[in-house]
Amino acid sequence: MIYTNKQRDLMRLWQQNKLKRINLLEGSVSSGKTWISLVLWAFWIASMPKNKPYLMCAKSLTTLKRNCLMLLEELVGGKNFTYSITAKEGKLFGRTILLEGANDARSESKIRGISLQGAYCDELTQFPEDFFTMLLSRLRISGAKLIATTNPDKPSHWLKTQYIDRAKELDFLDLKFLIDDNTTLDPEYVKNIKLEYTGVFYERFIKGEWRAAEGAIYTDFTNNPKVFQLDAPPDDIAFCTLGMDFGGNGSAHAIVCTGYSRGLKKVVVVDEYYRKEVISPLQLERDTVDFVRRCKSRYKIIDMYCDSAEQVLIKGIKNALAREKIPINVHNARKGAIIDRIRFTASVMAIGRFFVVKKCRHLIDAFSNAVWDGKKLDDTRLDDGSVNVDSLDAFEYSIEPYMKDILNLNFLRKD
Ligand SMILES: Nc1ncnc2c1ncn2[C@@H]1O[C@H](COP(=O)(O)OP(=O)(O)OP(=O)(O)O)[C@@H](O)[C@H]1O
Ligand SMILES: [Mg+2]
Repeated sequence: MIYTNKQRDLMRLWQQNKLKRINLLEGSVSSGKTWISLVLWAFWIASMPKNKPYLMCAKSLTTLKRNCLMLLEELVGGKNFTYSITAKEGKLFGRTILLEGANDARSESKIRGISLQGAYCDELTQFPEDFFTMLLSRLRISGAKLIATTNPDKPSHWLKTQYIDRAKELDFLDLKFLIDDNTTLDPEYVKNIKLEYTGVFYERFIKGEWRAAEGAIYTDFTNNPKVFQLDAPPDDIAFCTLGMDFGGNGSAHAIVCTGYSRGLKKVVVVDEYYRKEVISPLQLERDTVDFVRRCKSRYKIIDMYCDSAEQVLIKGIKNALAREKIPINVHNARKGAIIDRIRFTASVMAIGRFFVVKKCRHLIDAFSNAVWDGKKLDDTRLDDGSVNVDSLDAFEYSIEPYMKDILNLNFLRKD
């Protein structure tokens, strides 16, 4: 194993007995935090009592497996580390390791009764604060330690205000890793990954800074909207998906038709429907049928994703489409975390793979004017009726099922 200089610094702290009770490796993406944290975890555990319990957790068991357990197995070998996700348990150098997902229902109550010798947390900012507080109170065996990794978040995040800012008064080690510290990476990969992030995401995920999200969201689009606009749809659209957001209370009904070139190389919004005034469900059904028919006459479309909050309207639309014999699968939209959807869109824009046809003026307007809501605790878009988030939601519903695949094309990335 060859360490980067930064990783060697960490291992030296361990050898010199300078680790603290809580040890946090924070900073940019791909900076080598998870890799070295697992090496350290394995070495440390091998030096600790055999008959005491240890815990490894990430936001879910699936993420834990994908980001950590598979790599740990690779690093120490299948003889020294075995695990079962269904049994939620592993053995590392003969020590029992409990496995938990911090966001899984009842996870906090699961760890409530136990005393731990050690704990490992991947992507700590994604944990509920309650879970982490409980976890720390469980580390009550003499010499107990916690090793965690994370990317930075907003400065008001609990991990920053309650721990990092109080590192001196707590028994807490905070080590910053930057992408340029990871000298094992191909420089071309580093160059590309830096291009993929803009705005607040660049500050956090590349520069490794705790930054608040403020001002324009899609900075590239806001600064230079023309670059993303096409006069007409390109002729290499392989298929399209539709996303629909329902209006009410001053918001609009919006449907966005998103096209994908072969191999998902390019994302092009080719058509939109937008209606803000109050209309009857029957009118909405008629409008939807017309719009879907128009899109299907030009493109191959199999799936439509609708805001799941409106089951009655969805049912009506499904029936109307069936009555008109328009074959399309109408699904509930996934509605994953908004921050992930925003990050995705900002990325495809930044790497030059996103376009919108000029006539979709509502979506263009929405991208140009979207701003962060500085008043909210979480990173969210301003949604006070002054800007159009309906078209953005509709666009995101249309593309959500393909987000991971699209980004995976260019870059190795975790979820
Ligand atoms: N010393 C090393 N030797 C070989 N490969 C390494 C080393 N350190 C890191 N890597 C590789 O570099 C890549 C990024 O490392 P890692 O996943 O640990 O980064 P990270 O800081 O946890 O990133 P993120 O914030 O995105 O989770 C991985 O593919 C990892 O296997
Ligand atoms: Mg990591």
